[in-house]
Amino acid sequence: MVARVAENVVIVSNRGPLSFSHDGDGNLVAQRGAGGVASSLAPLVRDTGASWMAAAISDADREAAASGTVEAEGVRFRMLAVDPDAYRMAYDVVSNSTLWFLHHGLWDLARRPRFDRRWREAWDAYRAVNHTFARAVIDDAPADATVLVQDYHFALVGTWLAQERPDLKAVHFTHIPFCDPEAIRILPDDVASELLAGMASHTSCGFHARRWAQNFEACCQALWGWKPSTFVSPLAPDHDDIDAVAESPKSVEEGAALDELLGGRRLILRVDRIELSKNLLRGFLAYEELLRTRPEWRAQVVFAAFVYPSREGLPEYLAYRQEVETLAARINSQWGVPGWTPIVLDTSDNFPRSVAALRRYDLLLVNPVRDGLNLVAKEGPLLNARNGVLALSREAGVWEELGGVALEVNPFDVAGTADVLAAGLAMEDQDRATHSAALRKLAAARSPRDWLHDQLAAARSAR
Ligand code: F6P
Repeated sequence: MVARVAENVVIVSNRGPLSFSHDGDGNLVAQRGAGGVASSLAPLVRDTGASWMAAAISDADREAAASGTVEAEGVRFRMLAVDPDAYRMAYDVVSNSTLWFLHHGLWDLARRPRFDRRWREAWDAYRAVNHTFARAVIDDAPADATVLVQDYHFALVGTWLAQERPDLKAVHFTHIPFCDPEAIRILPDDVASELLAGMASHTSCGFHARRWAQNFEACCQALWGWKPSTFVSPLAPDHDDIDAVAESPKSVEEGAALDELLGGRRLILRVDRIELSKNLLRGFLAYEELLRTRPEWRAQVVFAAFVYPSREGLPEYLAYRQEVETLAARINSQWGVPGWTPIVLDTSDNFPRSVAALRRYDLLLVNPVRDGLNLVAKEGPLLNARNGVLALSREAGVWEELGGVALEVNPFDVAGTADVLAAGLAMEDQDRATHSAALRKLAAARSPRDWLHDQLAAARSAR
């Protein structure tokens, strides 16, 4: 079905299915692109005749972009090189320091944001990057094509598509939360209105959770008195794919190393990017509260945090990483004893090891302050082989699917999170079995293919 319907599809995303680097001799080398969006979409559209446009992010990408459209990963792939300074301003200042912070509610409002002249230049750059992508689609897309525009980096692309290619059916899909009408008032009025109008000029706007779609609708309703078309379609992990990783020799080896490290102790696990929205600090503080208030768990449990660096070009992320490392070290020195390190913090990017740990956890902590979806919360129950418990933030988009079963975490309540950790660790075997079976069923209810179909259907049915 997808092979047929994705024929006339053009994807626009920041990270694409391939990225490039230079080898020791200065030759260009291609590797699979990083990032959740590209890795979820790439297998779905491989060999379907789809085209894909992504940003040239590094110097090597820009060099590769000079080759124009290439056949790669089973798609017609084109990297678009915009001026590196303009790209940085659009990505760092607008996408990641403004829109990401706005939609995740991350600003310390006494200090940030500051919409000064430099910020206005960055907004112009964001608009220019969006325009470059829109222009490429306008020039290249076949007649009546369906255009799948991915994420907050490209909120404005639909503006020009609607004006110049009314034959196209373009949907916009947001992978992060969407703020409410009170919060969007932080943006300068003209920016908020351009942003909403840009998104609304797509045929329909998709989100992982009803809550984010409703916020977007409410922002539009407050501004214009009407709501654009939206749809809700939560992504899901590729079950076969993660099972194959779990069975790989590397993952099996990592699992054995983890067993040795645990020495029979219980495992609390988190797997995340080092990202402000993921709430790593309160997670560690809650664990410390558990050790402080429930001495019976001291030396009986290990908290493994397999978290890998992200967006290190932004000072907030560097400072956050340092805070995370300092806090883990402080807790370890305060509570650790010879033979037991309470927190194992590993910041290397090692997917087979994360998968091995997801098979092995007794309790998985997913406590973001806000999250568009959170795939780890579904991957965990699908992979876990020990009837592990899921402690899940009610602020994650995936709460709408798993909230009936997962243990509820208010991500701001450190003492409350400690109580949830204690309750999860103390759960009886029979309750754990029921809990994990119910979660597995919910996590397996949808596939990545359903998510792609929903986007194609929204593009083709609305208006
Ligand atoms: O969830 C939104 C998203 O942009 C994903 O596409 C990506 O995997 C993740 O955040 C990481 O962000 P970045 O591409 O900026 O490293």
